[in-house]
Amino acid sequence: MLKNKIYVIGSINIDEKISIDAIPKAGETKHGKDYHISYGGKGANQAIVAASLGANTIFLGRVGKEPQGKEAISELRNYGVNVDSIILDDEPTGRAIIIYENNDNRILLVGGANEKVSVIDVDNFLDGTQGDILLIQFELPLDTLWHAIEVAKKKKMTVVVNPAPAKEIPDEILKKIDYLVLNQSESELLTKIYPESQDECKSVINVLRKYGVKNIIITLGKEGAYYAVDNLKGLIPTIAVDVVDTTGAGDTFIGMLVFGLWKGNEIREIIEYSVVAGALACTKENAHDYVPTLREIEEAL
Ligand code: RIB
Repeated sequence: MLKNKIYVIGSINIDEKISIDAIPKAGETKHGKDYHISYGGKGANQAIVAASLGANTIFLGRVGKEPQGKEAISELRNYGVNVDSIILDDEPTGRAIIIYENNDNRILLVGGANEKVSVIDVDNFLDGTQGDILLIQFELPLDTLWHAIEVAKKKKMTVVVNPAPAKEIPDEILKKIDYLVLNQSESELLTKIYPESQDECKSVINVLRKYGVKNIIITLGKEGAYYAVDNLKGLIPTIAVDVVDTTGAGDTFIGMLVFGLWKGNEIREIIEYSVVAGALACTKENAHDYVPTLREIEEAL
């Protein structure tokens, strides 16, 4: 069944990416190969994908009053995200310093305005919702996010959580999550198991289900994704691509996933599309400078 709207409560960052051959040691200075500045933030990246694919997507977040904050809002609007609930804050827009080395990234965050998203913001944002989808990640204050989940459940929303960057989740919150979408290191933090094989994925799922998480999707990088949704489960392999930049690939996966949930598609098909979307995102530079289209995804399937 088509859901009404996807409500995203998430981060908006300015991403500063430096590509390097090797990370400097303490006290050492090295030259980078390339510097690039763009808009990012896990919340913004995921919302942009869902909206670009055609979902009715509305965003709550905070940015600074400086020109870059306003430009970040325009960027989201240009991709079709409803930005009416984004608030201008006295704190500057969040920053992500991305060190890109050997096809992998290390990200340092300064939360800035993201840290000011409050429970009152959430109450205003979710006022009047019924049966929609809520999507959150963990780059905002955790108290605000736990409150959002509590409110969403009371309003019978479908709660989708991407626990990135990895943080502990209280037991009473875990059981309110409808879809937990996590990678291997997030799985390890929550269950003490770093899943590489299907058996290890099943062990992660068993632990999380004991806490009451309903549906779990584990992203496995080059191996694809393992899912346990209702009584269905299985590994969905991904496609091989020439990797240019992995930054934001997980966000593209999740944007595609919530789009599929919003459309009411069958879960196996949703994950098949999501792994391909994530792989295609690796073929271009930067987190949200490129969003694959449904046609590109279908051609690559
Ligand atoms: O997932 C990638 C994102 O993580 C970047 O855009 C950066 O802003 C951080 O939030």
